[in-house]
Amino acid sequence: MHSQDHTLTAYLADEAATLALGEMLAGALRGGMTIFLLGDLGAGKTTLTRGILRGLGFTGRVKSPTYTLVEPYVISNLYLHHFDLYRFADPLEWEDAGFREMFNPASVCLVEWPDKAEGLLPEPDWTISLQDHLEGRRFSLTAGTATGALCLACLNDFDTTPPAA
Ligand SMILES: Nc1ncnc2c1ncn2[C@@H]1O[C@H](COP(=O)(O)OP(=O)(O)O)[C@@H](O)[C@H]1O
Ligand SMILES: [Mg+2]
Repeated sequence: MHSQDHTLTAYLADEAATLALGEMLAGALRGGMTIFLLGDLGAGKTTLTRGILRGLGFTGRVKSPTYTLVEPYVISNLYLHHFDLYRFADPLEWEDAGFREMFNPASVCLVEWPDKAEGLLPEPDWTISLQDHLEGRRFSLTAGTATGALCLACLNDFDTTPPAA
């Protein structure tokens, strides 16, 4: 793992590495965050979300919201909304389906295919991208807001904390 200013990068060798990174990211999340997940179909966006949910203590099934557009999870007092906007086509649906209200201070919103709802989404606190690389994936996370930078910094602390003596 490598971090520089407002960016964190890593090589994820296999699915287990993607899940483990997601679990690690979970520790840095705060209510109100919006996270964009970029990458082609099969890049590992949903796998990473599964890892994040595991890290938050969710033990149930995590399915891809390809047809429903969003899957809501309630974890103690935190809401996590996992969007997959690949099939999102009608901007009017944004209001009607109540998507706008899902972006609130008590919720973390993870958004696959955010470009499909351009202009409707809040500024992302983190933008994560996943790309095929060798046999695995190249991961990069960039903070886009002050909140995102703070959360990234506490992740760096988390990552570099030496084991207790
Ligand atoms: N780091 C990795 N290296 C290789 N394969 C991976 C890695 N992370 C996830 N995968 C695999 O790639 C696929 C990703 O699927 P999915 O998470 O649904 O992608 P997306 O949501 O981006 O379309 C899964 O089959 C998963 O097992
Ligand atoms: Mg997906």
